[in-house]
Amino acid sequence: PRVTIVGAGRVGSTLAQRIAEKNLADVVLLDIIAGMPQGLALDLMEARGIEIHNRQIIGTNNYADTSGSQIVVITAGLPRKPGMSRDDLLKTNAKIVVEAAKSAIAHSPNAIFIVVTNPLDVMTYLAWQATGLPRDRIMGMAGVLDSARFETFIALELGVLPADVKAMVLGSHGDLMVPLSRYATVNGIPITELLDAATIERLVKRTRNGGAEIVELMQTGGAFFAPASATSVMVESILLNQSRLLPVAAYLQGEYGLEDVVIGVPCRLGCAGIESVLELTLTHEEREGLHTSAQSVRRNIERSQE
Ligand code: NAI
Repeated sequence: PRVTIVGAGRVGSTLAQRIAEKNLADVVLLDIIAGMPQGLALDLMEARGIEIHNRQIIGTNNYADTSGSQIVVITAGLPRKPGMSRDDLLKTNAKIVVEAAKSAIAHSPNAIFIVVTNPLDVMTYLAWQATGLPRDRIMGMAGVLDSARFETFIALELGVLPADVKAMVLGSHGDLMVPLSRYATVNGIPITELLDAATIERLVKRTRNGGAEIVELMQTGGAFFAPASATSVMVESILLNQSRLLPVAAYLQGEYGLEDVVIGVPCRLGCAGIESVLELTLTHEEREGLHTSAQSVRRNIERSQE
């Protein structure tokens, strides 16, 4: 199989490395900067003997080289600078993502699309609109990353293995995300048995601010290792038809009382893309949180089209 990554920046190039080194697929890295994706591809190819895999990595500035991809990941666009919110990237990235989605689908009409560019939920909606794809074949990555951050903070607080912590974060990728604390566990034991309410609230706050915390520390762009890992899990579940149940930004058609909006919800991901959307029974507060996040995504979809 072949995966195209549009945007060979920090998230895109790290994702290319993950996909090749996990031996999931050949990778085409595309960017507008001449020579840059070609150089990265050559660098990754030269690591193959050491990492022991035989995946092809191609760098290009031309969409014709992406043809016949099973998956297209869009990471093209600007990242945040300190003090910026994801929404500040709206108009610039909207143009880039719409153009990338249209060009990519023209060469890979059967591909499944994963959008990573921020503001995530809005960009996924615009890419859905631009490609005209059915909702099972286009989605955004955010929830897997936000959940991994929540799990990390829980593991650090309790001094347990990160892999033993399971949590799910729904809603939009931003301050209005909806971490489902009551479902978070350490090997099946609810964290509500292990931590007091104030501590859980502190970890939830840190999760909401997880992206900004890294932007402020780095001062030059944002996170990319964990985002690339999170995206590679989605790519893997699709390519290997694993049907993993993951939080995915999906176009909703009435689920959770929401329609014509993209928001993070639990989805099963397999070879056809989104196999199903799981509708959880939410508390009043969680449902309100999801609806508030959806309203802000809707407002930004409108703003992006003004
Ligand atoms: P970066 O600046 O390192 O890379 C972006 C790349 O896109 C650059 O190489 C740039 O040349 C390229 N690009 C710009 N316009 C293009 C076009 N029209 N066609 C093809 N390529 C184009 O940024 P980074 O750190 O890789 O982040 C990429 C995006 O992903 C940002 O919008 C960032 O906010 C977002 N992001 C989203 C996450 C999520 O959870 N959904 C997590 C981390 C980042």
